[in-house]
Amino acid sequence: MSGLPIRVRLTLAFAAALALLLASAGLLLYQHLGRSLDYAIDQALRARAADVAALVAQADTGLREAPPNAFVSAGNDFAQVLDAHGHIIDETPGLGRTPLLARDQIANVHARPLPIKRAYRRNVPVRLLVLPVHAQDKRLLVVVGTSLRSRDTALASLRRELVVGGPIALLLVSLIGYALAAGALRPVERMRAQAAALSEAHLDERLPVPAARDELARLGNTLNDLLARLRTALERERSFVADASHELRTPLALLRAEIELALDQPREKNELEGALRSAADEVDRLSQLAEHLLLLARLDRGALRIRTASAELTDVFESLAARFDQRARAAGRHIHADSGTHLLAVDRVRLEQALANLIENALRHGNGDIRLYAVEVGNAIELHVADHGPGFPPGFLHHAFDRFSRADNARGGSGAGLGLAIVAEIAAAHGGTAAAANRPEGGADIWLSIPLAHNRPQQTRSVTTASR
Ligand SMILES: Nc1ncnc2c1ncn2[C@@H]1O[C@H](COP(=O)(O)OP(=O)(O)O)[C@@H](O)[C@H]1O
Ligand SMILES: [Mg+2]
Repeated sequence: MSGLPIRVRLTLAFAAALALLLASAGLLLYQHLGRSLDYAIDQALRARAADVAALVAQADTGLREAPPNAFVSAGNDFAQVLDAHGHIIDETPGLGRTPLLARDQIANVHARPLPIKRAYRRNVPVRLLVLPVHAQDKRLLVVVGTSLRSRDTALASLRRELVVGGPIALLLVSLIGYALAAGALRPVERMRAQAAALSEAHLDERLPVPAARDELARLGNTLNDLLARLRTALERERSFVADASHELRTPLALLRAEIELALDQPREKNELEGALRSAADEVDRLSQLAEHLLLLARLDRGALRIRTASAELTDVFESLAARFDQRARAAGRHIHADSGTHLLAVDRVRLEQALANLIENALRHGNGDIRLYAVEVGNAIELHVADHGPGFPPGFLHHAFDRFSRADNARGGSGAGLGLAIVAEIAAAHGGTAAAANRPEGGADIWLSIPLAHNRPQQTRSVTTASR
């Protein structure tokens, strides 16, 4: 059943329900007609029995001489008067002087009228009504009867009509139902065919959406939206790969140039050392780039597991400040870290990676002292890294978190423009966001906003590492 096309299944279910409906309606109609015919016959018999009983009471029934129409209509009706022993006292013509009741039937008649629903007289189905009367000082039985032939004929012809007409009606309506179902499902087939023909190269084609604003149109629109999202994702993927290759090319070319230059002719030891050192720098950049690309790829695939554990924010800030202390000192700069005592539910490794990217940027693109601080805003905690540098160029803020975006836009600069993209992804992986702004007093301020689960600040502690 489940292997059949929907339109066939719909039609079958519909036909089955309709068949049941038609059958029960037909049965009800048939029974109703039978009952009303029986009722009419019984009424007539009762009236006739009363008439004959009245005549019997006048001693002479005169049934024999009665014109056929006195009690009988169309010759199908008859009457007989019997005594208690079953002897015929009187009867309508044509009964052939055979008692209508057998002896045991007579014994069954008591004071009340006795209907005999169906009996056979000369193979004709008849209905009888026996009415006991007391007349002429005797107990007599008035038996009236009528043929059931026309009743049976009427019922039989209704039965024939139902048996023939029902299936025809069922077939016709089922065919109409099938045509309707097939018509309604045709847009689905059109969409399917178009979807099957879509190739990766032609994802910009759309599925045909029926004009009506029904479920199928909604399905078509949803599928088209899905296609659009796939298209965007695919384009993003393609440009990511293109940008990544481009970023890899520059350091590789530099590396190759360094090596070729070093091999070109016999070199002094310190010249060779210098070449190797700058080659090592390029290798560093390459491996960092590879790490960033891998991280983003894993974030994209959802393969990066965020293992949240409770971490004390002060510890996070302190260890970051300590990690970058040397570099800051070397540049004559300070890193201040001040945070309330917040217990965070975070993946500490990833969070530190994001904050490290921000500090790295502040060291590389910013100037002056660097401040790490936390602010509780509503149900989230913002972890800020601020500096006193030139800040972001106007207009660049919108793109700061895009992949491979750099304000100077010269490829081959110090970074690949992936740092902030990774920060945004890590924030998102924690259910939060990342944002950047230029501070009114100058310098950039970049922060992650992480939803607070169950941590409240208790006290404020300040850690400062400063260069001397
Ligand atoms: N603290 C900052 N001050 C000024 N500009 C910044 C700062 N941080 C980031 N930027 C700008 O945003 C760009 C993107 O940063 P990022 O994604 O970390 O890439 P990268 O550091 O590799 O260039 C940087 O190239 C720089 O132009
Ligand atoms: Mg960076």
